[in-house]
Amino acid sequence: MKTISTALQNLVHILNDGQLHSGHDLSQALHISRNAVWKHINQLAKYDIDIESIQSTGYRLKSPLILLNENEIRKHLQDPKVKLSLLGSVASTNDYVRELPASSQLQFCLAEHQIKGRGRFGRTWLAPFGANILLSCRFSLEEDLSHLGGLSLCIGLAILKAVQEFGLEELSCKWPNDILYRNKKLAGILIETRGEAHNLSEAIIGIGLNVNMQEAFLKQVDRPITSLEAILGMPQDRNKIAALIINSLCHHLTQFQKQGLNKTEWDQYDFLHGKDITLHVGTEYIQGLATGVDASGHLLLKLPSGEVKAYSAGEASLS
Ligand code: BTN
Repeated sequence: MKTISTALQNLVHILNDGQLHSGHDLSQALHISRNAVWKHINQLAKYDIDIESIQSTGYRLKSPLILLNENEIRKHLQDPKVKLSLLGSVASTNDYVRELPASSQLQFCLAEHQIKGRGRFGRTWLAPFGANILLSCRFSLEEDLSHLGGLSLCIGLAILKAVQEFGLEELSCKWPNDILYRNKKLAGILIETRGEAHNLSEAIIGIGLNVNMQEAFLKQVDRPITSLEAILGMPQDRNKIAALIINSLCHHLTQFQKQGLNKTEWDQYDFLHGKDITLHVGTEYIQGLATGVDASGHLLLKLPSGEVKAYSAGEASLS
């Protein structure tokens, strides 16, 4: 696990003007040796950052890189006491928060990059360095695991509400874990739970939101995905977005603890509702009409026989 040094943050800040800067000027501005400048540039290149290095002239960043910055995030946080860890590179933010000492408070972790980012169904979650939101939150509940039903839907709503603040309409939640913009995936959620002891459970909530992911990268993924940059036509402030999501998570998780899933809110954004779908559960493919969710967040599927069955897990696609 690595944190981002202040020197690297400052270097990126200077290079974000898109101009050419010589090694000498950078070393003077950052009060570090030219060798240290070179090492930081190399570090960025290793992360596949598009940095131009012109022999005996200098370095230029092809597109701005908005790195995570705790002060910038805290400017937008509603609760100044939020526990937050910011990392450069880590295996997976979910694993990182799981290892933190237990706390009754929500604990958040954000990273610029993951070496072993995980998606659902054992898939790999890919994200370029410094482009997206890779966020995990550790959430403890003084209830047994059965009370965590509907949690992933609640998290989906929290993300959707935060993203709506960017003026986006046409956002929806696809049961159980995806946030879509016009049928393309904008964010995904991976929740890993464990029952601690009698009446005590814990969820590790992982969120991947595509923010400044450019077209070239979006095309590398074999399913329709999008990013805030692609939708809004310009790079977005990841620090503000991170804070908006944390604020929204704090609010929605408090509500969830008190009342469980807000089904009325879910019904408003339910992408599958009223659509013919195929649900992949284990080795089975089940066809039916999606008719909403129950209070525990289970998907209600009207089967061809007319029977309505509730499903707690699975991957849905339009038929
Ligand atoms: C999905 O498959 O849609 C879920 C993707 C979840 C990705 C996030 S990124 C932060 C956290 N750390 C991980 O390794 N995965 C989740």
